[in-house]
Amino acid sequence: MKLVYASRTGNVEKLVGKLGAENALKISNGNETVSEPCILITYTDGVGIIPPAVETFVKNNKDNITAAAVSGNKERHPDTFCFAADKLKDNYGITILTTFNKEGDDETVTILKNALN
Ligand SMILES: Cc1cc2nc3c(=O)[nH]c(=O)nc-3n(C[C@H](O)[C@H](O)[C@H](O)COP(=O)(O)O)c2cc1C
Repeated sequence: MKLVYASRTGNVEKLVGKLGAENALKISNGNETVSEPCILITYTDGVGIIPPAVETFVKNNKDNITAAAVSGNKERHPDTFCFAADKLKDNYGITILTTFNKEGDDETVTILKNALN
């Protein structure tokens, strides 16, 4: 399964590096397109929002997004921890595989490797 991700400060990118996914696509402006099913990994922005470029990508590629995983920061944003996951689920009907703190842990890696293979 193809992997698409967004990372601004490197946490999600660090996780992606552990997944051994070939041809992972990084979202930059949101105008990227995929023509096959994919797993999306994103961080949470603002006060618990989907990063705007990611939201553009989701709108344009919704039919090819099989599921998503969402990063947040539990210590700095406890009240909106990983709220982007709720928005992806509620507003776009996307299945959430997992939410995780910063770059995640071994369990995060396992969940995502299973979903990708
Ligand atoms: C401006 C800003 C707003 C953020 N807002 C939230 C938030 O509301 N909830 C949350 O869980 N994390 C929030 N975060 C934390 C990031 O989602 C978290 O650090 C994530 O791991 C960043 O991934 P990246 O390093 O791949 O960009 C925010 C970070 C920044 C810089």
